[in-house]
Amino acid sequence: MRKAREESGQFLAEGLKIVTEAIELGQAPKVLIYGADAAQHPLLQKAISTTYDARGQVIEVNREILEKIARRDNPQAVLAVFDQVFTPLEALSPHSADVWVALHMVRDPGNLGTIIRTADAAGCGGVILVGDCCDPYSVEAVRATMGSIFAVPIVKAKEAEFIAWRHRWPGSVVGTLLTATVDQRSADYRRPTLILMGNEQAGLTPELAAVCDVNVKIPMRGRADSLNLSVATGIMIYAAGD
Ligand SMILES: C[S@@+](CC[C@H](N)C(=O)[O-])C[C@H]1O[C@@H](n2cnc3c(N)ncnc32)[C@H](O)[C@@H]1O
Repeated sequence: MRKAREESGQFLAEGLKIVTEAIELGQAPKVLIYGADAAQHPLLQKAISTTYDARGQVIEVNREILEKIARRDNPQAVLAVFDQVFTPLEALSPHSADVWVALHMVRDPGNLGTIIRTADAAGCGGVILVGDCCDPYSVEAVRATMGSIFAVPIVKAKEAEFIAWRHRWPGSVVGTLLTATVDQRSADYRRPTLILMGNEQAGLTPELAAVCDVNVKIPMRGRADSLNLSVATGIMIYAAGD
């Protein structure tokens, strides 16, 4: 639950693959929970010893308890609790990557997780959550990241803070607007490129569009009046990285 995540500063990740990835990226579980069926898996054995080495807790449970914790039937056989990590805005080094992503008031955890996964795949520098966004550490968002939550720096920024910081950005800040007249394919992006995406319902606000160097539109030929936020972000990330 969000309240518990906020109080503890921790979150739940599901699956041996994700837990193994976290460990490879230097994050040890605070609590490692597994079903007896998985006990002999060599990767689980390694996760168990890493958890003990980091003074975490290891608990073997039965299927019923795994289902209760995961809150679904057929849960993954391995679950783990990790510390949440947020990078401060001021700690980012813009020149360390060609493309960065900022999301204003993203509301859907599935979209957010998918964007974090895409940002990881494309080698983006980080994902900046501007204003009141959904929780990147919710079970749904973490599930959609497929492990990329451990690989991509996540930043939380108030809108005013983001605007002040944006003025020191050394490359292009590119907004995405359905009403923009510039085609995303013909815009001239200067690196590092910071892509700014709007909210699922309301789109990018005029205040944020006004602080972008350019606002672009991804052309649409059919009847759909917009693209899904995570799809639009994926197109923009790869366009800016080209
Ligand atoms: C579902 S759309 C928002 C639709 C909203 N009704 C509007 O008027 O903007 C969510 C976000 O995805 C991005 N987006 C979706 N389709 C786009 C397109 N064709 N061109 C540029 N950005 C797009 C924008 O960042 C937008 O704010």
